[in-house]
Amino acid sequence: MKCVELQKDFYYVGVVDHALKVFDVAVLTDYGTSYNSYLLKTDEGVVVFEGNKAVTAEEYLDHIRSIARIEDIRYLVVTHTEPDHSGAIESLLELNPQITVIASAAALMNLDKILRKPFNRKPMTPNGTMNIGQYTFRFISGMLLHWPDVMFTYIEELKVLVSCDAFGAHFASDEILLSKEPDKEGYYKALKYYYDHIIGPFPSYVIQACDRVSALDIKMICPGHGPVIDDDIKKQIEIYRSLAEPSLPKNDPNHVTIVFASAYGYTRKMAEYFKERFEKDGKQVSFFEISALNYAEVKPQIYEEIRTSGLVLLGSPTLVGDAIVLFYDLLNGLVWPLVQGKKAAAFGDYGWSGEAVKNLSERLAQLKFNVIPGFRYAFKLDEQGEKELAEFYDRLAA
Ligand code: FEO
Repeated sequence: MKCVELQKDFYYVGVVDHALKVFDVAVLTDYGTSYNSYLLKTDEGVVVFEGNKAVTAEEYLDHIRSIARIEDIRYLVVTHTEPDHSGAIESLLELNPQITVIASAAALMNLDKILRKPFNRKPMTPNGTMNIGQYTFRFISGMLLHWPDVMFTYIEELKVLVSCDAFGAHFASDEILLSKEPDKEGYYKALKYYYDHIIGPFPSYVIQACDRVSALDIKMICPGHGPVIDDDIKKQIEIYRSLAEPSLPKNDPNHVTIVFASAYGYTRKMAEYFKERFEKDGKQVSFFEISALNYAEVKPQIYEEIRTSGLVLLGSPTLVGDAIVLFYDLLNGLVWPLVQGKKAAAFGDYGWSGEAVKNLSERLAQLKFNVIPGFRYAFKLDEQGEKELAEFYDRLAA
């Protein structure tokens, strides 16, 4: 692996891993990945940006050594502390304990728990600046892209933005520079996949970050994974914005999504009652009856309707002490930042013990929905059941 001089005195010293097949247990890496680190030579010593993964520490240190002496490193700038970026910091600090780590307060707190030993530190603050030698570093919040600790660094004189996971992709490129990478189609596929799986839960923070970095004159984005973006920066930021915008949650109080399953019609009766009442009250109702036959087909549409709804109702009978398993698959595809505060409730009939409504309500609460206590009734609604159902509707509509 070559260490590329990206600009005068500014080098790529990361590690490219073509062999990785899966990242963080669940994220497939069809194009491998890289753990990017950068090195800047200044009049006042060497600055390294980002650590590396613990298992790639030796390669990372060798790459640094090929450009500068470890003893000459004065600062380590840490954008984000997930261990694929922080795991090798321990090895670096063992070799040079004089290094001062520059990071956000949240990142320093994480590093205390990762390193479990004292180290020299300098907290960065959003919009703060710091001069090292002939260079000015400006720190920009990258909050929740994708952890609370993320802080970008803009090196003013080089017009470089160091962004860690943001604008990154699990894509191993020996070219290092995106402008030289021949497989652009693969790169953009990997970028979208990476966005969807890593950054996607936080679209409103992505838009805020795009606004912040759009105001800068950027020549290069140096992410934590994938090639360095050295061409058409504006387009790259707009791609990120366009990935975020369609998933922004809306919570429209006039839009209700009802998703239900019904084996013998009792839960369907409840769902139809809600639909009729909400429509009479002038609400838009998105109505889905699911079964093993149609679930895969309607699932994407259900997610889209949930995204814009102010109220979500899940109706399931109880089957062997729990809700129909399709509902757990549906809920597993939701993440709390996209549904937090939305009103939701569960309903359904039951035969023996009726756990479905309680269990679905608990899962909805874990996802930070604003959960309204649910409604269940044994088998068929009678006069008493219809009265209770109407009272439940009043609580939903309140
Ligand atoms: Fe690449 Fe959030 O770590």
